Amino acid sequence: MMRNALVLLCSPHAKASSGWPVVASCLAQLELDNPGIEIRYRTLSAPGLPLPSAAYANAIMAGSPMDDPAFDLSGTLIRELEESDMLIIATPMHNFTIPACLKIWMDYVLRIHRTFTPTPAGKVGKLRDIPTLVVVASGGFHHGPRANQPDFLSPYLSFALNTIGIQSIQYVYLQGLAYGQDSVQYALNQTNDETVAAYSALLAVTGN
Ligand SMILES: Cc1cc2nc3c(=O)[nH]c(=O)nc-3n(C[C@H](O)[C@H](O)[C@H](O)COP(=O)(O)O)c2cc1C
Repeated sequence: MMRNALVLLCSPHAKASSGWPVVASCLAQLELDNPGIEIRYRTLSAPGLPLPSAAYANAIMAGSPMDDPAFDLSGTLIRELEESDMLIIATPMHNFTIPACLKIWMDYVLRIHRTFTPTPAGKVGKLRDIPTLVVVASGGFHHGPRANQPDFLSPYLSFALNTIGIQSIQYVYLQGLAYGQDSVQYALNQTNDETVAAYSALLAVTGN
């Protein structure tokens, strides 16, 4: 039974984003399957988190103690993630990759000695695997027969989450949203089954 889920809202439109209906139906199912589950929302879009400060950068590079106040915000965001049994990332594609607001979250959450350990073979994650659903909204196409641009979002996001220990990640792509309301509805219909499948695959990981 899952107790907490964390939703990262990364669109400038937050819950009014084009991908929201997909996320909302997934959350409704999550609540049905896990009565009493607490769903926490972290809105990353404007005004967003502050950019990493010099104090934060210095604390990282100096290997400052965990209780250094420069790590306060980073600690809060990491604990919020650690307390979650499922992570849902609702994000647009901005210039072929994640939006800036999600990158700032990354810069606080991927933290040396706290969420990953450096080794000669690469960084090794310290968090447990948290099943993660990523719903990506894009104006154009980056997957399938109509793809005409690269997708730097998924490989980057997966690599970054893998670095801290999150391995079970499922993507749902709502594409072609820049072509009017009919296209939005088409994309929502298209991704309905995909979302159910992605959600079920994540449940299999958690043993639910
Ligand atoms: C700054 C910016 C950059 C964008 N870059 C891309 C892009 O690289 N590829 C793409 O297909 N759409 C791009 N778009 C379009 C958005 O992905 C599209 O509007 C999407 O529907 C936004 O989803 P949302 O309503 O959830 O915010 C961009 C939009 C903005 C505002």
